Amino acid sequence: MGGRSSEHDVSLASAHSVIEALQDRYDTVAIEIGRDGRWTLPAAAPHELKAGGDRPVETLPVPAESSVPTTLAEVDVVFPVLHGPFGEDGTVQGLLELAGVPYVGSGVLASALCMDKDVFKAVLRDRGIPVTQSITLRDGDPVEHPFPYPVFVKPARLGSSVGISKVHDENELEPAVALAFRHDEKVLVEEFVDGIEVECSVLGNRDPIASQPGQIVAHAEWYDFSAKYDEGGMELIVPPPLPEETVELVRRLAVEAFVAGECEGMARVDFFVRGDEVLVNELNTIPGFTSTSVYAKLFAASGISYPEMLDRLIALALERHARQQRYAY
Ligand SMILES: Nc1ncnc2c1ncn2[C@@H]1O[C@H](COP(=O)(O)OP(=O)(O)OP(=O)(O)O)[C@@H](O)[C@H]1O
Ligand SMILES: [Mg+2]
Repeated sequence: MGGRSSEHDVSLASAHSVIEALQDRYDTVAIEIGRDGRWTLPAAAPHELKAGGDRPVETLPVPAESSVPTTLAEVDVVFPVLHGPFGEDGTVQGLLELAGVPYVGSGVLASALCMDKDVFKAVLRDRGIPVTQSITLRDGDPVEHPFPYPVFVKPARLGSSVGISKVHDENELEPAVALAFRHDEKVLVEEFVDGIEVECSVLGNRDPIASQPGQIVAHAEWYDFSAKYDEGGMELIVPPPLPEETVELVRRLAVEAFVAGECEGMARVDFFVRGDEVLVNELNTIPGFTSTSVYAKLFAASGISYPEMLDRLIALALERHARQQRYAY
């Protein structure tokens, strides 16, 4: 939990919920990654791992103090509850692959792919899944785009609306692009989709299931950081006020996007619905994960409680690990 990205605090909130819900059934150990990248055991950790096992797995990259375990060999499964770069993007997943430890959620490829809004949309377009139109700028490119105003400007690889602007006219474009470039070397300028926002949770490995979708009603001009995390900043309406066939289309596209992204375990797929058109906005492989986050609420509305969802995710992690052991390489 924690991690180097600007979503550090969001991750801590998610992880505390996960730990609380696991504690009565699992032995848990909390490992916190600081914004400086150092790995530590918080003082309140339920119990400490024995340092050093007999399996040769030396994994924690930057132990900050000697009391931190230097091996993950005693761990049956790791639950990365890390949002954004250096956590949700395949980097930590790569470390866990090297360590040979089962872990919850998407693998290296899916994590990196879905973190990158530019490449992710290219893969979806290739599969015929409708996405919002955008152009991608790299540092130094002329700041121009073919869309009418307003447009959305966003860093390619971040979350929680950090670095994102709604640009109402040409004058606001340069500062918005400069802000996004503070977070990433790749920036998207997107057409503004004048529709409603709908999110759908997905759970599974090879044969994933989609939750009941929900409509996001942000009490702000758009679903920005404070609408996401301030008390009363948003409302989730389940089921969304849409015709049955549109709801079914959202659920089908959520599973198709999950499969196209080669995701495993969990994901939350964010959509815009404009008339009878359903567009994928983006996919989060480690969505906000408290028991009252959208991901969990949508499954709760679909009959899967938070503790059951965690049990299933852990079982899926072990299943994936066992399956991968079978291949020669
Ligand atoms: N093309 C668009 N048209 C209309 N609104 C948009 C568009 N792109 C983004 N938004 C608004 O900005 C919000 C954040 O955008 P997006 O979901 O792409 O960012 P994020 O930071 O990756 O979000 P998350 O916290 O879900 O990871 C959306 O929920 C929506 O309110
Ligand atoms: Mg989003």
